[in-house]
Amino acid sequence: MRTTEVTAHIIDGKAFAAGLREQIACEVSQFQEQFGRTPGLAVILVGDDPASRVYVGAKGRATQEAGMGGFEFSFSKDVGQSEVVTLIKELNNDERVDGILVQLPLPPHIDTSLVLDTISPEKDVDGFHMLNAGRLACGLPSLVPCTPLGCLMLLEHTLGSLAGLHAVVVGRSNIVGKPMAQLLLQRDCTVTIAHSRSRDLPAVVRSGDIVVAAVGRAGLIRGDWLKPGATVIDVGINRTSTDADGKSRLVGDVAFDEACEVASSITPVPGGVGPMTIAVLLKNTLTAAIARQSLSLEKVQVDP
Ligand code: GUN
Repeated sequence: MRTTEVTAHIIDGKAFAAGLREQIACEVSQFQEQFGRTPGLAVILVGDDPASRVYVGAKGRATQEAGMGGFEFSFSKDVGQSEVVTLIKELNNDERVDGILVQLPLPPHIDTSLVLDTISPEKDVDGFHMLNAGRLACGLPSLVPCTPLGCLMLLEHTLGSLAGLHAVVVGRSNIVGKPMAQLLLQRDCTVTIAHSRSRDLPAVVRSGDIVVAAVGRAGLIRGDWLKPGATVIDVGINRTSTDADGKSRLVGDVAFDEACEVASSITPVPGGVGPMTIAVLLKNTLTAAIARQSLSLEKVQVDP
């Protein structure tokens, strides 16, 4: 007798992100026609972390491809905090710049919260400023962190309405876990945030109709931790140690092959959430540009 193997639907984040980027490029040219300028994104890199360099390079290329203006600033790893703060203040006042992103992590001598909170909230395309984090938590319109917003888009694309589903978010970072939980709450999910200190993590994960894994530990979440039919979003990007051929691979936080036999849908690594982060960054930059433009129109109308 043949057994039927259950294989999950693979959520193609790469294709979804490509579509979103095309749509953004169209909207950028409409913006240009209407307002006579291009939206601009400034990216600040501190230090020489190789992964951060790769991400910043990819963000710069995507900005150009979307027809936006790109401004890149690099500092050595021992730059003083005040130099970074001074640059951000200049960019806050630069009319060509609609979005400002400081690539994280920053070196330990720099106060990350202080730097992020120096960015004007209207230009905070990463959504990390405390005002934007607070607005998101209060259910008010805000710029929303790119990775969780990208995960939400993939979930809604796959499942339609998320209302009433139990979502388990594994990871409690300010960049992914906490804003992800807020977005899922806004979509009427029942939300559990689990983390490295959670008791009986497999049992918690098994209660999720949706599992978002954002812990940064390769293959932590095993196939038999999942509820059959769950939808799995894997945010992890972990590099394996080199194998016998001297090659390393990128893997997620979920044991992919095992999970495919239990889940109904799952994002791969690479090609799942990663491409969405950059596409949403472009979307946030355009959103910020449109909002700034309408603010300046209001100003014109209010102060004749
Ligand atoms: N480092 C890892 N993820 C991110 C992100 O989404 N934005 C920034 N600025 N830095 C990061």
